[in-house]
Amino acid sequence: MPIFRELKINDLEECFKIWQDLISHYEHPIGGEWTYSKMADELNTHHGVGAFTDDGVIEAFCLYRKIGEILEIMLLATKFREHRTGAMSGLIRSLIANLAAGEKIWLEVHAGNLPAVAIYESLGFILTGERPGYYTDGAKALLFEYKPLQ
Ligand SMILES: CC(C)(COP(=O)(O)OP(=O)(O)OC[C@H]1O[C@@H](n2cnc3c(N)ncnc32)[C@H](O)[C@@H]1OP(=O)(O)O)[C@@H](O)C(=O)NCCC(=O)NCCS
Repeated sequence: MPIFRELKINDLEECFKIWQDLISHYEHPIGGEWTYSKMADELNTHHGVGAFTDDGVIEAFCLYRKIGEILEIMLLATKFREHRTGAMSGLIRSLIANLAAGEKIWLEVHAGNLPAVAIYESLGFILTGERPGYYTDGAKALLFEYKPLQ
């Protein structure tokens, strides 16, 4: 059972390695590019949560921003060899479980990123809109929202 905890800046190296390794294997368009310094800025300025093993190794992480009652997911990444083991769904469920009253989750995703679209749909996120031609490859962004039942 993973342990979910807020990421700190000293988790950056490990998160960036997970990212670099997975983009060399991943067969779907992700949409955004993440450099080391962009990830550092995001972690320094906003939030992140990781799924850690008992030994303190990160299996999956999520970077997100909080703007009022909106929690906006910026990046999800699961270590490539852990894909499809339930790591990310556990992590997103923990984010959902920690939402305060009135808070909801937003995100946009590359329409061709089928695993990402599938995970959001499987967790009950609702498609709320589309942005045609949003990505540099001409693909549209899909906008999803998760609003807990009151
Ligand atoms: C998207 C991503 C985070 C999913 O993480 P994961 O830990 O493999 O996901 P889980 O194992 O928790 O999957 C949960 C559910 O999502 C769906 N899903 C996940 N990967 C899928 C795939 N390749 N094909 C179809 N459905 C998939 C399934 O419904 C799955 O449940 P199931 O395995 O019981 O059928 C992972 O593929 C990843 O790191 N992708 C690269 C980065 C990225 O695209 N991030 C999103 C944009 S920022």
